[in-house]
Amino acid sequence: MRKPLIAANWKMYKNPTESTAFLTHFAPLIKHHDKAEIVLCPSMTSLPALVDAARGKSIFVGAQTMHWLNEGAYTGETSPTMLTAIGATHVLIGHSERRQYFNETDTTVNLKLKAALAHGLIPIVCVGEHLTEREAGLTANVLELQTSLALEGVDPAAAAPIVFAYEPVWAIGTGRTATPEIAADAHKIIRAQIAKSLTPELAASIRILYGGSVKPDNAQSLCCLEDIDGALVGGASLDPTSFAQIVTNAT
Ligand code: G3H
Repeated sequence: MRKPLIAANWKMYKNPTESTAFLTHFAPLIKHHDKAEIVLCPSMTSLPALVDAARGKSIFVGAQTMHWLNEGAYTGETSPTMLTAIGATHVLIGHSERRQYFNETDTTVNLKLKAALAHGLIPIVCVGEHLTEREAGLTANVLELQTSLALEGVDPAAAAPIVFAYEPVWAIGTGRTATPEIAADAHKIIRAQIAKSLTPELAASIRILYGGSVKPDNAQSLCCLEDIDGALVGGASLDPTSFAQIVTNAT
């Protein structure tokens, strides 16, 4: 049985004051909701305040990226041990915006995934095709390649915490969502690749989220399908009422 996970990716929005104010409004709205694991991923500067504010509320706090090394001369970077030291529990890896604007590659995704597992952080690994790739009939190839390269050399004995997020790049921040059929097909492809790269048992237990213009009114149709185990939400997670509705509708 896979417990749904609903994650908020706040991208470069909300300072520490705004982040904790969100929690003040959001926490009471989902107080009695225990069907999903809820993760908030704020910017780095809001992480410590949000971790403190979320204590005892069954809400997890994660980072939007990290480096794979523990320390070094890497200006601007944050290491896995820096994240665990402040109490972050999850980390997004390979978001398409990191791939597009910050030179994230399948190789660095793989390094980060292994580092997250080694440090007890739950990695949420993002994969997804561009519109041109979908139109060229390459969706399955892209998803299989990104998934297999992310998992290269990962010890199946350590892989249980991994979470994948299918985010078709053409659906991110565009208001254009995948149809439930498109999402379900993509999730099947990713799950089949996990079975090949790891084991069939892990493929059955690893959660795969959908991300891309998830809103309160489409959360149920997109996230309540057999192979879809929750959502990674950008824009609609910035408002506490909207994000609480997504949590409720998606689970
Ligand atoms: O990480 C979240 C995704 O990029 C989706 O963003 O919900 O604003 O489309 P969006």
